[in-house]
Amino acid sequence: MEQKNPNETERLKILVVGSGAREHALAWKLHQSPRAGRLFAAPGNAGLREPLVSQVPLAVDDLDGLVAFARRESIDLTVIGPEAPLAAGLADRLEEAGLAVFGPRAAAARLESSKPFAKEFMARHRIPTAAYRAFTDAAEAKGCLAARPEGPVVVKAAGLAQGKGVTVAQNRAEAEAAVREALEENRFGEAGSEVVIEDFIDGEELTILAFTDGRTIVTMPPVQDHKRVGEGDTGPNTGGMGAYAPVAVYTPEVARAIRETVIEPTLAGLRADGLDYRGCLYFGLILPKPGSAHQGPQVIEYNARFGDPETEVLMPLLRSDLVEIMLACARGTLGEVAVEWSGERAVCVVLASGGYPGPYQTDRLITENVSPRLGPALVFHAGTKQNERGEVLTAGGRVLAVTATAPTLEEALKEAYGRARTVHFKDVYYRNDIGYRELARRK
Ligand code: GLY
Repeated sequence: MEQKNPNETERLKILVVGSGAREHALAWKLHQSPRAGRLFAAPGNAGLREPLVSQVPLAVDDLDGLVAFARRESIDLTVIGPEAPLAAGLADRLEEAGLAVFGPRAAAARLESSKPFAKEFMARHRIPTAAYRAFTDAAEAKGCLAARPEGPVVVKAAGLAQGKGVTVAQNRAEAEAAVREALEENRFGEAGSEVVIEDFIDGEELTILAFTDGRTIVTMPPVQDHKRVGEGDTGPNTGGMGAYAPVAVYTPEVARAIRETVIEPTLAGLRADGLDYRGCLYFGLILPKPGSAHQGPQVIEYNARFGDPETEVLMPLLRSDLVEIMLACARGTLGEVAVEWSGERAVCVVLASGGYPGPYQTDRLITENVSPRLGPALVFHAGTKQNERGEVLTAGGRVLAVTATAPTLEEALKEAYGRARTVHFKDVYYRNDIGYRELARRK
């Protein structure tokens, strides 16, 4: 169907699908655009609400409801935040209804929603990544582990497992337990009915996000996420406990290697495979330690969306108009748009419910002391809700993403932690060492 094509001065109606700090940061940035008219969020949270956006009480997996809403309201641009609606085909449905979308179709979103698909894609297009094998049978998977030398190995649920499907096992026993959980105990349901076993690569992780319209690809500043729950990168993986940008290991040589061996071949591979990718493409990378059997940057994973908390540090650094960029991605005109970034540093500290990523309590009252001395740090909401009295309560594992920008990393950290310390709720937990690798590098 022919897409509605608003003229260059018209204010646009924009729908953001999601309810995390990532979507709050995106809406915050979209709202600054002179092109932004009315903004909606489905379903939103206690920060992603009026006056920033109008909330739409539709779940992210209610594809029929979301498409009907976008048609009824003549939404000019829908921005899809999380992976589940992308994998379920929300972008396909909206495009078929003639509506502009930022986010790939389901076939291209398989780069995230199917680990075996992503691995085969990388093998086909010679994109560097760890060697792997995929299994649906537990005995065969354990046989593969038994045949490997003892030592670290990575076990991944093949499908979407809400960020919990990856185990970096330190030894064979831990890897066998991860196989058992997925294939025998059904811990991840259908998403864990197949596992990928891949070589462990020791090194420094780095995230590169890129805007693309399928023809042009524009990378964003490099980010380092802190995935483990404990300080010093210990304990289980989470969705991400904090992030900072930019990252000094992203030297011009490393940037060139990533562009030549990963980013350009990925874009060329998508085109060769007939996958029309319009949205944000997330490259989860590792720079192997010197002496590693692996040479040069390696892809750990693709995601078919913005990262969280990576987005919370990137949006405050973006100078250009996010509406123009996203619209250009949707229309295939990204090559005509300037994408500029401030030269500042950004830090995000995630405030989580105590116990996360394991069991945790919700409905804790959030109180915040907004002393003017503390400066202009931003608080993006994730798992929050409002009660009938208008009070803000916790409603998830990751609750708030406190973000600050400053000319130096030290100043940004001071600002972010200063603000984080003013936010109170029972059992609040956050890491106190966000950016520690970068600080150590500078000493
Ligand atoms: N921060 C990791 C992710 O968004 O998947």
